[in-house]
Formats: sequence, structure tokens, C-alpha cells
Amino acid sequence: MTLRGWVYRIRKQKGNTFVLLRDDRGSIIQCVFPSSKLEDLTRESSVQISGILKQDSRAPEEGFEVTGTDLTIFQVSEKDYPLGEYQSAELLLDNRHLALRTRKMVEIAKIRASIFKFLRQWFSEKEWMEITPPLIVKGSVEGGSTLFKLNYFGDVAFLSQSAQLYLEAMIFSLGPVWSLTSSFRAERSRTVRHLAEFSHLECESPWVSLEDLLEIQEGLVRYTIDKTINERGESLKFLKIDTSRFTDLRQPFHKITYDQAIEKLKSLDFQIAEPDGKLRTIRWGDDLNIDSERELTGKMMTPSFITGYPIEVKPFYVKENPDRSGTSLTFDLLGPQGYGELSSGGMREDNLETLSTRIKQAGLDPIDYKWYLDLRKYGSVEHGGFGMGIERLLRWFIGIEDIKESVLFPRTMSRVNP
Ligand code: 4AD
Ligand code: MG
Repeated sequence: MTLRGWVYRIRKQKGNTFVLLRDDRGSIIQCVFPSSKLEDLTRESSVQISGILKQDSRAPEEGFEVTGTDLTIFQVSEKDYPLGEYQSAELLLDNRHLALRTRKMVEIAKIRASIFKFLRQWFSEKEWMEITPPLIVKGSVEGGSTLFKLNYFGDVAFLSQSAQLYLEAMIFSLGPVWSLTSSFRAERSRTVRHLAEFSHLECESPWVSLEDLLEIQEGLVRYTIDKTINERGESLKFLKIDTSRFTDLRQPFHKITYDQAIEKLKSLDFQIAEPDGKLRTIRWGDDLNIDSERELTGKMMTPSFITGYPIEVKPFYVKENPDRSGTSLTFDLLGPQGYGELSSGGMREDNLETLSTRIKQAGLDPIDYKWYLDLRKYGSVEHGGFGMGIERLLRWFIGIEDIKESVLFPRTMSRVNP
């Protein structure tokens, strides 16, 4: 047999040299050569090996070994390869372009690819249409404080925070639509769940209700996780991910109203910090943050929907609950075991006057939203959708603390290289 790949590890002994060869999908197999043949070989050299495959219970990985007969060297890797066996997290991030060759990153990348594949497959099976919105835009969607500003031929433009407004424009001629793009947020907080660039799955449909949206979101997550577990058994095993964590995923997701969530937190005397740092008990009207979300879902094994947030804590486009003013027809999906927000969505304000007022109240320039307001002028319909951060989903699925592990080249406030 002939194999091409890279020298993952090399162990030279007097008589024989053992090479762990990594192929271009990260699989590893042990190859043995007489040491005299491999004198120059270094870690990460690119090679082609021919030899005889045999089973050897002492061999690592699958218990197979190749007795090498021929060796072609494409390039001898330079001796100063920066990554050894044990490295600090920072050094691995500085060398992410090389760290992607480690087993852990390869397995995470495979799981990531499956998640993308099955999300796409779910939408495709349900006949939602995939669209590609622009990523250079004029208006904010999720507040001005996290906008990345661009010099756009002398004019000001921004990197998109969310494709939502464009998806909303599509539903009038394409029906249920979805997109998977990068979204950009100039997040100044250094947290374990914020990236400056993240993969954002968003969908939008005319004539749906909040209940429909919860059902769509739940079905999408369950399908994607189920299929990924099936396809990536080996990766999950390598990463020591206990799949019994997902057994309860077949159960309906928890549904908690915002009111109930606040009552629960109040009963626990849950403290939040005022802008001046003073602590006080949480009360109705406060947004839920990572700590309150952890408190609510720490012991749960199934994701939870929180519905009916106060309109004040949500962006300008959300629809007010006609049966209860001050609250909105919105939801957040929280991951179990304290992982926190995975997605946000809900019904959109479809009335022209109300939306214009809200845009002004949010301090936004109505000129930038003229086209968006047009959607409420010409054939407005009830509609809604949601957006889910794929790295947030992966963070929960893989069970990692730091979101940077779930993306191949993380972008944060302190890192834009490599
Ligand atoms: O909650 P967000 O800000 O909602 C929106 O952008 C809506 N316009 C989406 C929509 O309805 N079409 O973002 C949606 C999700 C969050 O729940 C979170 O999972 C993820 O995007 N997200 C981030 N992920 C990583 N790093 C960040 N800085 C993120 N900001 C949001
Ligand atoms: Mg949100």
C-alpha cells in the first residue's frame, strides 16, 4: 500500500525508526523503517510511504502497522517546528495555522463540518431556500456599540452583525429562507462565549407564529445533534465526549417564560451588578446574563426556551405581545448544563408606524432603514425567525469552556492573527 501524509511523530531507535504518519484527513498510522533509511526525517516532513500493512496489537491507533519498503520525501520539515507535545494555550493560538494539525483540532474541525452539513440538510429537506445576504451594510441590527466600521469608498459602512433584515426582505418572494454567514461584533468584553467573527445561522419565514418558531428551532437542533453523533462517533470518542449528555435531547425542550425565570432567580436572591458596580437582587425588566442563565440551566440536561422578554431588553425590530404590553414575542434558546444562550429569535414588528417610532427611539437614522420600512409599506405580513451562533452550539456540544476552541481561526478583541 502507498500512503501520503506528514510525519506526526518520529521515534528513532538503533535498528528501526517508528513514524506516525498523519494523512490528509488527520488519520494516523504507524510505519516502521530501518533507521538508516530515515536519517534526515523530521517532524511534519511531507512524505509518501509504500509498504506492507499488517495487524499489530502493539501499534497505536487502530492496531495496524505498515512495514515500509519505499519512502519519497516531498519536503524535509525545518527543525524548528514550534509545537511540541505539551504547549500553553497561548502558544497554540499564536500558531493556530500549525495547531490545526493536532488531533484535537482535527476532530473538532470534523465535528464542525458535520454540524454545518446537517444544518444545511435539515433546511434542504424542509425546502427552505438558502440565500446569501450582503455582509457590508449601512445599518446596525443588534445595537451600535458592537459595529465594525468600514471606510467604504469614502462613505461609512459596517460589517454585518446579522443578516436578519435582508432575510426579512426575501420572504416576500422566496418564502421561508435561511443563511449561514459570518457575523461580526466588535465585542469589547473578553468572555468565553464571545467572538468578533462568528458563524451565524439565520432563518426567516412569513406566516409563522412564535410557537412555530420554537418547533422549528427545536427540530433543527435535535436533528443536527443526532446526525452528528451518528456520523462522528470516533471524533467524539477521541475528545472523550460523553454522549449520554444528549440522551435527554429526545425529550421536548423546556419552556420557561421570562416571568417564571425572574421569579425563580428572585427566590434564589440572585444578585446583579448596577452600572456603578453595586449589587442588587434581580428584578423584572433586567436582561438575563451568562450568570443568570447558568443559574437557570445548570442542572438541566435538555435545552430551554425562555419566552416573552421585556421589549426594552430586545432590539428595535421585535414585535410587542398584543395581549401584554411591555413584553415581546421573542425567545432565547439556552443550552443545558449552564452553557447559556445558543440562539435568539421571535416575531418581527410588521406595522409601519410602530416600527418607524422604534427605529427613532433606538437612536437610529431612519434613512438607513428606508428600504427595511418599505417592507412594512408594501404587503406587510406577520413573520419571524431566529439566529443561532454555531460556535455557541459547538461549545455546548463538545463541552468546552472557551469558545475559541470551536472555531479554526478565532477572532477576538485581542486576536486577529493568524
Ligand atoms: O442574539 P443575537 O444578537 O440575535 C441576532 O443577531 C438576531 N438578529 C438573529 C435573528 O433573529 N436572525 O445573535 C444570535 C446568536 C446568539 O444567540 C449567539 O448564539 C450568537 O448569535 N452570537 C455570538 N456568538 C459568538 N460570539 C458573539 N459575539 C456572538 N453574538 C451573538
Ligand atoms: Mg441574543
